[in-house]
Amino acid sequence: MKNVPMYLKPNVVLEPLVDDWYAWSHLISPATAAMNIVGRHHTIIDSYISAPSIHAEAVGNSKMRGGPFMDLGGERVEDVKALQEKSFKKQKEVIKFAKAIKELDKTLAAEAKGYGLEELYQKVPEILKGYVELYYDRNNNPGFRFFESLLYNSEFYNKASQSIAMWITNNDERPFCLSTPRLEESHVLNLNISFDNPGIDELAKMKRTPQTFSYIKDVLEIPASKERLFETFFTETPPPPYQKYTGEKIRMRYFGHACILVETKDISILVDPLISYYGYHSDIEHFSDVDLPDMIDYVLITHNHQDHILFETLLPLRHKIKNLIVPRTNSGKLEDPDLKLMFNNIGFDNVIAIDQMETIRFADAIITGLPFIGEHSDLNINTKSCYLVKIGNFKLIFLADSRIIEPKLYEYIHNQVGDVDVLFIGMECDGAPLTWLYGPLITKKLPRDMDGSRRLAGSDCKKGMSLVDIFNPKEVYVYAMGQEPWLEFISSIKYTEESNPIIQSNKLVSLCHERGMIAERLYGEKELLYEKESIREVANFKNSNKNSVYEF
Ligand SMILES: [Fe+2]
Repeated sequence: MKNVPMYLKPNVVLEPLVDDWYAWSHLISPATAAMNIVGRHHTIIDSYISAPSIHAEAVGNSKMRGGPFMDLGGERVEDVKALQEKSFKKQKEVIKFAKAIKELDKTLAAEAKGYGLEELYQKVPEILKGYVELYYDRNNNPGFRFFESLLYNSEFYNKASQSIAMWITNNDERPFCLSTPRLEESHVLNLNISFDNPGIDELAKMKRTPQTFSYIKDVLEIPASKERLFETFFTETPPPPYQKYTGEKIRMRYFGHACILVETKDISILVDPLISYYGYHSDIEHFSDVDLPDMIDYVLITHNHQDHILFETLLPLRHKIKNLIVPRTNSGKLEDPDLKLMFNNIGFDNVIAIDQMETIRFADAIITGLPFIGEHSDLNINTKSCYLVKIGNFKLIFLADSRIIEPKLYEYIHNQVGDVDVLFIGMECDGAPLTWLYGPLITKKLPRDMDGSRRLAGSDCKKGMSLVDIFNPKEVYVYAMGQEPWLEFISSIKYTEESNPIIQSNKLVSLCHERGMIAERLYGEKELLYEKESIREVANFKNSNKNSVYEF
C-alpha cells in the first residue's frame, strides 16, 4: 500500500491541542493563553485531582452542563497528575508570566491614583517590562496593554505546546472541550507539530487529492511505532466528487451553527466555518467537507468566541482559503487579542482585518464589515463584526450573536446600506455569565450577582424583531444555536422546548410569518437559491444616504 494513492478518510478528526487541551483562540495569543493555561486548565486539573468523583457527578447533572468539570468518569487521576507535571514543566515561563499579570493588576489598583505613571514602570514585574504600556482611561482608572506582536516573538509564545490529535470519529459525541483535556488513548495519534506546520496542508489536501502513504508519512515524520495506526486514517476509496455550482443564481448553504456558504458560479464566501464530518451514520442530514469548493474566495469570521473560530475546521481548510477576513483590533488587551496576528502566527498568510463600514469588493460582490453590539459581557472588545454581503443587487446580512441593545445603531447602518433580502441572526438570548468564558482573565474576584448580570447573551424576540423592522428582510433565518449534535462538544448546549432561546426564536419566526415573510430556525442543513436581483424593488436602495459606501 505504500505507493498506492490514498485519500484521508472523511471522518478523521484533526484536533488541534495546546498543552493537551482543545485549542481555541484564547490559547494562542501569548498573554491571553498564559491566563487560560493557569486560570482554566491548572484550576480544573487541581480540582479534579482533589475530588474526581465530584467532577463525575457534575458532568452527569444537566444543570452543570458546560461547567469546569472533567468528563473522565472520575477515573485516570494518575494520568491527570502526569498532565499537570508535564504542564508545570513545559509552561514554566508562561506560569510566571500569568503571575506577573496578576501582580501588575494589583500594583496598578493600589498605586495608580491619577498621578503620572512613569514612576510605576519601575514596579512593573521584570518579566513584563518592555511588553506593556500603562495608561489611564479618561477617568483615571488605570490599565495596561500588551505589545502583542512582540510577545509572539518571545519565549512566552510556546509553539512547542501545540500539537494535533488525529483520530477517527464514528459519531458526534465528545466531552465538552473547554473542561476536559485529551489524554492518551490507543486510537489517537498525537502529531507533535505546531499549527503553522505545512504538513497539515499536505494532509488535508489528501481529502480530495490522493497521495502515497510513504509521502505523507515522511512529511509528518511519523515514527515506525505509529505507522500502523497512521495507516488506518487513509483509504483508497475516493470521496464523492464536489459538485461545483454552475447556475446563474446565488446558492446559500447552511452547514450548521452559524456556518453559511454563499456561492455563485464565480465566487464563494464562507461565514464562521464549522464543518462536520461524514462517513458514519447520522440522523441529521448535513453538508460536509465534500460540499465545499476547491478554493474559497473569502472566509468571514464574526467574533472571537470558541464556537465561531474553530481551528479544527480552519487548519484543514487553510490551503484552500484565498482570503480570511477578521474583525480588526490592536487594543493589546487580554480579553481582546488581535485575530490577524493570531492567524498569521498559525500559518495563515492571507488575513485581512476589516473595520466597521469598510468594504471589500471583488467580482460582482461587496463585503461590508458592520458594527456588532453586545454578547461580550460589556467588556471592551473590538474583535467583532457583522457582515453585509451584496452580490449583484441581492443583500444578505449576517448578524451572528449580536444583541440589539440599541436599535438606533442599526437604524444608522440601515441609512447607509438600505433594506436587505435575507437576514441571519443567532438568538442565544440567555447566555453564560461573564466568567464562563472570560473568568481566567479576571484577577479581581467578581461578585456573583455582578457576574450574572454580564452575560454572553444574543438577541431575544423583541430585539430580533427590532432588526426585522429596520432592515425589512424578505427572509429571516435564526441559527440553530449549538443544537446540532456535532456542536455539543464546543457549545455545551442542549435545549428543550421550554428553553428561553427556543421560545423566543419560535416567537420571532411566527411573528415574521404573520408579516408574510419566510422565516425559520435552521437546523442541520438548508439550501436556498436566489436570483442576483434583489427580491425587493430597486427603489428601496434610493434611501441610502450620500455618504453610502455603495455606488448605485
Ligand atoms: Fe458568541
